[in-house]
Amino acid sequence: MITNISDGIGQAAHFLKLGQAVAIPTETVYGLAANIYNESAIRSIFELKQRPLNNPLIVHIHSFDQLNEIAVNIPEVAYQLARKFWPGPLTLILEKQQDISDLITANKPTVGIRMPNHPLTLELLKSLDFPLAAPSANPFKRISPTNPERVFEYFENKLSFILDGGECQSGIESTIVGFREGNPVIYRLGALAKEKIEEITGTIEIANTENKAPVAPGMLDKHYSPRTELIVTENIEQEVHKNRGRKIGLLSFHPLPSQENVVLQKFLTENSDLEEAAHNLYEYLQELDESNLDVIIAEFIQEKGLGDSINDRLKRASHK
Ligand code: TXA
Ligand code: MG
Repeated sequence: MITNISDGIGQAAHFLKLGQAVAIPTETVYGLAANIYNESAIRSIFELKQRPLNNPLIVHIHSFDQLNEIAVNIPEVAYQLARKFWPGPLTLILEKQQDISDLITANKPTVGIRMPNHPLTLELLKSLDFPLAAPSANPFKRISPTNPERVFEYFENKLSFILDGGECQSGIESTIVGFREGNPVIYRLGALAKEKIEEITGTIEIANTENKAPVAPGMLDKHYSPRTELIVTENIEQEVHKNRGRKIGLLSFHPLPSQENVVLQKFLTENSDLEEAAHNLYEYLQELDESNLDVIIAEFIQEKGLGDSINDRLKRASHK
């Protein structure tokens, strides 16, 4: 198979209707999409990603009608969040409608749903008479791709089609909110800052990430990882000193004075802009990862707004 890469929505729809998996752009990261009502198409997503079947997929929709087709007993606060933030980087975990496949939900009674905010993918969804299940378009545990070239590197010619929507704007995955007895809980920090959600919900709890059987496997300790050893620190100079003698790459939020042994430095943002930092995070990690380094040393950012979400990804990426 040779992978087609283009912005042709008609072509993407063609392959999806045939029951094939297609890579789609979203505002967060690229997804690997298939028709939610086609079991073998859904199964092929798990196979392509080598993802364990106990890790459920997010269903992508374009309308509130589709929401009601997929979920039941939707709490009022979920509607409030959806009306405020959709289309956008928020996934809601809701009670599923009976006919939603157990493969998508990993046998859970709930289903993850979001309305992505990317013009091409919204248009694609509108042209189809089925929603799309789509995990991030990376092999299990690897870094999520934020441009079509990275998707192609991961899957080469195992995919029929990559819908080219350019670089993803946000650059990290959606924030996931579930409900316990009707009360909202954050299952995964992400591209929608916790503070924004709290404007609607009031103070919100973050589900315990130490949990051995995490509610959302995106909360597994190790995730989003480069292959090169990654150290995350509050004190980059000290860590560089400790690692002297090794080939070091740096991922920081501010330019640092050049240091011995540091062969490559990437600054996530020029002017302390957290959105810019999130946008660059995965692509810079990928670039560092392919630069033949002995170690990547990254710096924690202030825990505020998207800073929380960025630190969360850095912790998981560096987990041994
Ligand atoms: O931004 C995103 O959310 C991207 C784009 C493509 O939309 N998608 C994404 O999907 O990150 P994925 O599969 O890589 O991560 C989805 C997370 C997983 O951690 C999964 O366990 C969780 O959502 N999830 C899905 N359904 C769930 C459910 N019913 N209950 C709990 N967690 C669920
Ligand atoms: Mg993922």
